[in-house]
Amino acid sequence: MTILERIDRNNTPRHIAIIMDGNGRWAQQQGEDRLFGHNFGVEAVREALRAAQELNVEYLTMYAFSTENWGRPKDEVDGLMDLLVRTIGKEVDELDESNVVIRTIGETSGLPASCQEELDLAYERTRNNTGVNLVLALNYSAQWEMVEAVKQISDLVNSGSLDKSEIDRELISSHLETKGMPDPELLIRTSGEHRVSNFLLWQIAYSEFHFTDVLWPDFKQDDLYKAVLDYQSRDRRFGLVSEPLEK
Ligand code: IPE
Ligand code: IPE
Ligand code: MG
Repeated sequence: MTILERIDRNNTPRHIAIIMDGNGRWAQQQGEDRLFGHNFGVEAVREALRAAQELNVEYLTMYAFSTENWGRPKDEVDGLMDLLVRTIGKEVDELDESNVVIRTIGETSGLPASCQEELDLAYERTRNNTGVNLVLALNYSAQWEMVEAVKQISDLVNSGSLDKSEIDRELISSHLETKGMPDPELLIRTSGEHRVSNFLLWQIAYSEFHFTDVLWPDFKQDDLYKAVLDYQSRDRRFGLVSEPLEK
């Protein structure tokens, strides 16, 4: 039986979020510079996307550039932005043909103009598609997202259009970048690091975490299937007691 065949099709996540990590270390292992790793990381995004499509996942959220990543050497940041523009430009036809909806979370207004233009074209091209939502986290930080939500909500309260008593979880969710999206049932991080690095802090309240030592450029469809199998082996209790314990 292949890994794919072992997956229970009735219990697949609707939303998978991935912290794609390890491009730099992968490049270092090949004796190349960090950008070489980022370039190969694009192929791994294709692999993850194909696997998500195979499993009919509705949302695949990929952490591509964090707000903190601006602090990396200028050459690397410029190279990453350039890679983003080139990749979206090159892939948009194929993504559109395979019914993918391209979305982003994060402060995209802080990206170079060329990136914003390429992204706007991609949103426009794919907005009426009905397949998987490929959500790119770009210039994203969960704490930034929460600060923005607090500002938006306080404006509503100050202007009298919202009463403090109306602030609840749903309202806060609806002011986050992920508004309208289900929370990820599964969060994957590659490269052996066991941390969240300012990704989706609110939305992962009850996510299952899957960590793998695979470095991102080596990530294959089977690695996503393995993560889903691992997810399916978990007993998600949401603060309650599991069935057999209830007796
Ligand atoms: C992840 O790989 C890609 C981005 C953060 C853009 P890294 O570049 O963080 O690779 P390592 O962690 O240094 O190996
Ligand atoms: C997290 O990876 C950000 C992305 C994958 C885009 P980092 O490599 O930047 O995170 P740290 O520095 O290991 O926490
Ligand atoms: Mg890293």
